[in-house]
Amino acid sequence: MTNDIPYPFHQNQDFLYLTGILEPDSALVLCGTGRPDQAILFVPRRDPARELWDGPRSGKDGAAALTGVERVHCTEELGLVLKSLKGSTVWYDGSKPCHPGLHQTHVRPLLEGGPIVRSLRPLTHSLRALKSPPEVALMKEAGRITAQAFKKTMSMSQGDIDEALLYAKFDFECRAHGANFLAYPPVVAGGNRANTLHYINNNQIVKNGEMVLLDGGCEYFCYVSDITRTWPVNGKFSPAQAELYEGVLEVQKACLSLCSPGFSLDHIYSTMLALLGCQLKQLGIVKGSTSDADTLKAARRYCPHHVGHYLGMDVHDTPELSRSQPLQPGMAITIEPGLYICEDDDQVPERFRGLGVRIEDDVVIQDEINPLILSSDTPKTIADVERACAQS
Ligand code: GLY
Ligand code: MN
Ligand code: MN
Repeated sequence: MTNDIPYPFHQNQDFLYLTGILEPDSALVLCGTGRPDQAILFVPRRDPARELWDGPRSGKDGAAALTGVERVHCTEELGLVLKSLKGSTVWYDGSKPCHPGLHQTHVRPLLEGGPIVRSLRPLTHSLRALKSPPEVALMKEAGRITAQAFKKTMSMSQGDIDEALLYAKFDFECRAHGANFLAYPPVVAGGNRANTLHYINNNQIVKNGEMVLLDGGCEYFCYVSDITRTWPVNGKFSPAQAELYEGVLEVQKACLSLCSPGFSLDHIYSTMLALLGCQLKQLGIVKGSTSDADTLKAARRYCPHHVGHYLGMDVHDTPELSRSQPLQPGMAITIEPGLYICEDDDQVPERFRGLGVRIEDDVVIQDEINPLILSSDTPKTIADVERACAQS
């Protein structure tokens, strides 16, 4: 984006999960027979000339004190140390190296020697999928901060408002209440732009009478939230907006009720499609006589995304984990059904055209039937949303 200017660094989540180290150009080697019994950490060498520009580095001593790992080397020794290790299998993601520079210089020569190479990611992701109580506490805080940011952003809504202003308010409220930064570029989409799922320009005027869809989340000490609400910027749902919103809300609540051990995200997704199909019929968007198969097809058309994903250190967290896997206590997921009706869809009653609604909550699966809803402070019923919009 800019010549010579640094850009924000985000640590690789697997590395961060295992070490807690936030500095770039670092590496961890775990070695042993059968199971890892030795950790060797590599961090950038202290360098006053570089530190003058970039700020202090931990160095070997700082990294050892921070992590408790006793054997710490400078990063440039990575190749030498790796060469000295004996073993028949290397657990490493050679096909998708997360640090191309270190890979090229230090790791690739080792892999050319012919050891068996297996990916570590399925293992780290299955560990990361189950959140410990301290991880859940961080996610709760991310959810709480984001919920209050939604309330404050709703309360500054008014007829004719710039998406950029809503974006700035949401970002400000998250950071002002302790978030490190937003977890991803949020979608702040007024009117028909809500039907562009990855709309992130966030620079148009939302007109009086239109709704805005805001999909935003923050990162709080390495754990994130991912919440969506849709509301009318003038603070009052029109009859058609309310009808569509209630339809999505009913489906969203039904999907939340399935967030318990044993069900999978894919199962909840199938249920979402069936329920959205029923709503499309009730709304008159799909004819009552339409076959089940065609109704499902319509549900897929008007909601082209999945019901949710795993959530944690990343927004689309632990992608190695299949969504067909049964949910277990400690897993965090999103539930985010939507209905998106483009303004030029002449198959649909006119009053719904140009409306797009998504409602997204973050939940943690618990032992009991009911999940923990991390985003529960975010206004969601029509009455709560209208009340939040009316606050000054
Ligand atoms: N914000 C991205 C998602 O909801 O999956
Ligand atoms: Mn999501
Ligand atoms: Mn989202």
